[in-house]
Amino acid sequence: MCGIVGYIGKKQAAPILLDGLAKLEYRGYDSAGMAVYNGEKIQMAKATGRLKVLSEMTYEGETLPGTVGIGHTRWATHGAPTDSNAHPHFNETETIAVVHNGIIENYMKLKKKLEDKGYQFSSETDTEVVAHLLDYYYKGDPLEAITKIMHRVEGSYALGIIFAEHPDVIYAVRKDSPLIVGRSGEGSLIASDVPAVLKYTRNVYFIENEEIARLSTEAIVFFNVDGESIEKESKQIEWDIHAAEKGGYEHFMLKEMNEQPATVRDTISPRIKDGEIVIEELGMGDEEIRQIDKIHIVACGSAYHTGFTSKYVFEGLARIPVEVDLASEFRYRNPILNKNTLVIIISQSGETADSLAALRMAKECGVTTLGIVNVVGSSIAREADKVMYTWAGPEIAVATTKAYSAQLVAQYLLAILFAKVRGKIDAEQVSTMLHDLKKLPDQIELLLSHKERIQKFANRFIAARDVFFLGRGIDYAISMEGSLKLKEISYIHSEAYAAGELKHGTISLIEEGTPVIAVATQNEILKKTISNVVEVRSRGAFVMAVTTEGTAEMEKTADYVVYIPQTNAYFSNSLAIIPLQLFSYYVAVGKGCDVDKPRNLAKSVTVE
Ligand code: F6R
Repeated sequence: MCGIVGYIGKKQAAPILLDGLAKLEYRGYDSAGMAVYNGEKIQMAKATGRLKVLSEMTYEGETLPGTVGIGHTRWATHGAPTDSNAHPHFNETETIAVVHNGIIENYMKLKKKLEDKGYQFSSETDTEVVAHLLDYYYKGDPLEAITKIMHRVEGSYALGIIFAEHPDVIYAVRKDSPLIVGRSGEGSLIASDVPAVLKYTRNVYFIENEEIARLSTEAIVFFNVDGESIEKESKQIEWDIHAAEKGGYEHFMLKEMNEQPATVRDTISPRIKDGEIVIEELGMGDEEIRQIDKIHIVACGSAYHTGFTSKYVFEGLARIPVEVDLASEFRYRNPILNKNTLVIIISQSGETADSLAALRMAKECGVTTLGIVNVVGSSIAREADKVMYTWAGPEIAVATTKAYSAQLVAQYLLAILFAKVRGKIDAEQVSTMLHDLKKLPDQIELLLSHKERIQKFANRFIAARDVFFLGRGIDYAISMEGSLKLKEISYIHSEAYAAGELKHGTISLIEEGTPVIAVATQNEILKKTISNVVEVRSRGAFVMAVTTEGTAEMEKTADYVVYIPQTNAYFSNSLAIIPLQLFSYYVAVGKGCDVDKPRNLAKSVTVE
């Protein structure tokens, strides 16, 4: 995710900004930049690539003299990773400079309004809107301009802002994107994450939603969204630098699991406008959507599992036949593709060799390709005819969690959109589904808050040799991902089975004490799955069931039941996967495994 640093004080700002940005490198980025007030004007330097490029370009900050500045590392969301899209962003007269983390959801609307008023944009970013909007409202009082834009801007933001006319202060503003401020002996600092300031202070203020901080060399003062002064208490950071990089979590995987509510929210909410689904970057007209007569979903690993789920969603809602393939199979199996086929390639990294090769093969066959990708500017994002981004931010743990969740909800949105355009669902059904979708982030948060219960249960399985996951339909797809998570990080052998298929062989492996995890969220087939649970239990299996609240039948059948909140049956994967991720994580931690970097695995598989 992007990183923010800001400094005002007695020392030269640029070296401190570079140092702070270096501490945020672990978060992932594709470009970096700084803006420093030099006594007369704000000077800026930006560069695509590693921080080293920016550092060399500015002679370690020497070419940007001054004691007031802001810096940024950017993880591209709106617009490719280029110098012009890198932050900071200026207003036209270069008197206001802004760095931003988050997503401005209504930026298109604001951009249009500002362009109508004559503002010229020099980047593709949502952030530049903030710089021009500040310019529009600025009449000499920065605080007034900031509070005005906070009432206009929708979405999530952490902002660092400097005004050339007020070089004795910098501003920090936050909504739904983390930001801290702190004081050292010689000045005040802003950062999006603790590691950037730990060298200078352990005493920080966490800015809360819709709060503003004004930093000067001597003091930090706080205001609410109405510009009224507020008091805040500082907190002492006890973590060391490595723990700080993980936000205090023991592992990146745990941190990323906990980021899922935000990830799901960021992927969904900018795409819901006035009750309609609008996927701006997709560029697919209604007629094009109506003409699709078949979808092939192609991906690897967990991304493939999300496609396996969305087959049910696309077919159920939009009534389009869907085939799901492993990319490594698809590329060699000579599939039948025609001009009305849509090939959807799903990839977090956008660089997975087999997925990229499958995409190229599909393009050679002349069919339309759509990439659902997390990394902006990656090969799949660039080469696919259409693209839809998942806004999960960089994922560091090898085992995917938050990107998986973002891929799922991106596909729900597409399926609902396709169903609506093709006249398979009406406006009321869309509205009910969007209502359920919007509830997912809070429901995921609730499930994450029950982690101690899962941990306790997971401790019983540390010595397990084999674990079986069972489910039917979407529950089978969830089981596949639950099983992969467990085996890849804990090295316990596990298999996912379509519950009805057990009797055709696998049940012979069930013996006294074999752990079985049964996923049963689909009401229509619940009784069938319960029968399968009875079958394995009567052969000695110890069963944990994941089912939906209000399904009392499971209580009598399984040894241990985890409930997920009620949601639309198509969306249940987004909830049921949370206890399964936690289960795998705690089993792996209990076994002392290297959770974030499991043996033999790479985050991005760029070879066949
Ligand atoms: C499992 C995992 C992998 C990836 C797979 C595809 O936890 O992360 O199975 O899902 O390697 O990677 P991307 O999505 O980058 O194409």
